[in-house]
Amino acid sequence: MLSQVEPVYIDWNNSLEILNKAYDAGIFVLIIGAKGTGKTTLVRKFAHMRNKELYTINFSLRTRESHLIGMQTIHNGNVEFVEGLLIKSMKNGSILYLDELNAAEADVLLRLDEALDDRRQIVLKEAGGQIIKARDDWFVIATINPLSHMGTKELPPQLLSRFPVRIRMEYPPAETEMKIIGAHVQLSSKDEEIVRRAVKLANTLREAASVEELYYSPSIRESIAFAKLIKQGVAPKLAAEAVFANVYEQWGETEYRKVMDLITSLFS
Ligand SMILES: Nc1ncnc2c1ncn2[C@@H]1O[C@H](COP(=O)(O)OP(=O)(O)OP(=O)(O)O)[C@@H](O)[C@H]1O
Ligand SMILES: [Mg+2]
Repeated sequence: MLSQVEPVYIDWNNSLEILNKAYDAGIFVLIIGAKGTGKTTLVRKFAHMRNKELYTINFSLRTRESHLIGMQTIHNGNVEFVEGLLIKSMKNGSILYLDELNAAEADVLLRLDEALDDRRQIVLKEAGGQIIKARDDWFVIATINPLSHMGTKELPPQLLSRFPVRIRMEYPPAETEMKIIGAHVQLSSKDEEIVRRAVKLANTLREAASVEELYYSPSIRESIAFAKLIKQGVAPKLAAEAVFANVYEQWGETEYRKVMDLITSLFS
């Protein structure tokens, strides 16, 4: 479907610009970044800007070749081939968004490899060996989460090389994160001050997670959620506990306590 609602996206690290130039040059793009760093929003914004159809495949261990290629099905008593998103996007010249590609199984990746090489075509052995050629304006964007992520594997090098332009998404500097939050939630100057403290907290937790002092690092999603609770009139400490602290209970009381101590010092 054509993306109708324009996503809110602040292009703070020129990712949108690179994506646009890569598209004009016909080079496929890989986006690498931790959860909640804006990867999906960037792709949706780009598709909207270029007024292109976006086909998304969310990869997991359960994604099969048939999701990409399609399969024979019986419809009104007749056998029909229902095309998968890879085939559809190649034929329509739309954008194929391969989300969390490094969660896919090897056999699925192999099939993708065939379509993504310079010939941009695939033999449909599932439908009588027909050759599908991609339209010139076909475009592919893939995202991968860093390898520490559950269930992620290394992408085979030949598949990596099919995406020679790579965009790295990181958590933004605090001021930028405030702007991103501001684009989603309208805050009074008093609330803004409270949210600024939460962004500081988020960054402290991210740093602690990056040196493995904590098991989890909060994303921009959490900062936005915190701002929304504040706007709803929730007390700052309670909002911080709900959004930033409680998740650590999964790893036990000590982990949770560490974070609560920080919260108490910031929102007494
Ligand atoms: N640059 C930005 N401008 C506006 N909003 C942003 C930006 N970056 C992140 N966000 C917001 O942060 C949230 C998370 O973003 P998004 O879903 O795009 O992240 P993601 O990298 O795809 O995460 P995941 O790896 O978990 O799929 C969304 O609500 C999104 O709108
Ligand atoms: Mg995403």
